[in-house]
Amino acid sequence: MRIIAIDGPAGSGKSTIAKRLATRLGLEYLDTGAMYRGIAFATLRRGLDPSDQEDVARIVRDVHMQVGEGTITVDDVDATIEIRGPEVTRAVSLVAANPEVRTEMVRRQREWATERGGGVLEGRDIGTVVFPDAVLKVYLTARPEVRAERRSKEVSDLSYETVASDLARRDALDQGRETSPLAEADGALVVDTSDLTVDEVVEALVAKVPS
Ligand code: CDP
Ligand code: CDP
Repeated sequence: MRIIAIDGPAGSGKSTIAKRLATRLGLEYLDTGAMYRGIAFATLRRGLDPSDQEDVARIVRDVHMQVGEGTITVDDVDATIEIRGPEVTRAVSLVAANPEVRTEMVRRQREWATERGGGVLEGRDIGTVVFPDAVLKVYLTARPEVRAERRSKEVSDLSYETVASDLARRDALDQGRETSPLAEADGALVVDTSDLTVDEVVEALVAKVPS
């Protein structure tokens, strides 16, 4: 299978770069963060507490999700806009720390790639856990203030300070959790995108993909 694994913190450029790279390589692209956001959305919609491990574990296998390129339905409801909203963004790292949620999401991600014979997957644990044998593993990063600046340009209704503190909180939860913490995979190509354009990053990665 031809798998490209892209991991890194929020605002490092994963989605933008993964989409562009997939187009260049003629592969499909999967935003695994949207899947964790989908579970957070389903949890809130059922009135459950996202940090209640048992309640969330009980529902995760029953949540029906369809993730397209830039769209998502959760239990047949279009959740494309809501999964990017502040409530889901606050809840997502809590449900993503739940081991049962991770086991089920990893199973679905492997199934997605197997059905297609490969793909570009981006998230937090693709190179470390989901596909440690990927043909190319990439860890994108950028300085915290650059990431917060990029993200606050995308969400016009929140102040820079709110966005920056949300990112710092999620970084800490994602790097500090026990199951599959955000980390550089062994053998990953580490790219700091702070002072690079999207094109420069894409070209650097294309050059590293084995033919
Ligand atoms: O787009 P953004 O970088 O803000 O985040 P995302 O990729 O949509 O991921 C949202 C959250 O899902 C992350 O902060 C992680 O808590 C979780 N996540 C994860 O645990 N594992 C993944 N493979 C992808 C996302
Ligand atoms: O998925 P992730 O949260 O890692 O990042 P993203 O949603 O792709 O957002 C990154 C933003 O920074 C986008 O608006 C990109 O155009 C911009 N950007 C980038 O991704 N890479 C660069 N080298 C420069 C800017």
